[in-house]
Amino acid sequence: MQNLRKLTVASLLIGGIIAGIAATSPKADAPHYKNLKVLPKNTTHEQMEQIMGGFKNALGVRCDFCHAPSKDSTVHHPDFASDDKPEKNIARQMMKMTGKINKKYFSDNKNDQGERIPTITCMTCHRGNPHPGEK
Ligand code: HEC
Ligand code: HEC
Repeated sequence: MQNLRKLTVASLLIGGIIAGIAATSPKADAPHYKNLKVLPKNTTHEQMEQIMGGFKNALGVRCDFCHAPSKDSTVHHPDFASDDKPEKNIARQMMKMTGKINKKYFSDNKNDQGERIPTITCMTCHRGNPHPGEK
């Protein structure tokens, strides 16, 4: 049940019902993240892991598909806040597009609490492929 709730939160964030979640989020934590332009500033570590893991699975890629390497070569994980890799900004556009499709064409899809459930996700089109436009 708890897992189901978490999943719903993550998919709502991805679905673009972002303002609503931010406004009703129970604890107003200090922001963990430095460079969020689409997700709410108070996105928690747990939500971020679920959302990013979802992107990774939907596109069938690793984190470094969108995230540029750290400038400091002794750091072995990507610089997640950096916007140096163009794929990251494409992904932001995709997040907005996905949110708009759900809002405009699938707004009747609601759970028992009356919260909108996103029908379209990254997976709907990508299905483990970063380039769904190609055959
Ligand atoms: C398909 C592209 C994509 C993939 C794959 C991806 N990310 Fe992201 N990530 C983004 C985008 C886009 C943002 C910025 C979201 C925004 O602007 O609201 C982001 C933001 C982040 C941030 C916040 C950085 C900050 O301080 O602003 C972290 C941390 C992060 N990603 C970690 C990960 C991890 C860990 C993985 C692998 C499990 C991953 N990401 C995979 C696209 C991606
Ligand atoms: C309505 C279908 C659709 C949805 C939904 C969708 N995408 Fe895409 N996405 C595409 C198409 C089509 C392309 C272009 C692929 C190509 O170049 O062949 C693309 C390209 C991308 C690229 C660029 C890949 C590259 O190498 O240039 C990224 C990154 C991406 N999508 C991330 C996402 C993320 C993250 C989500 C969910 C928030 C998402 N997409 C949802 C259809 C979609």
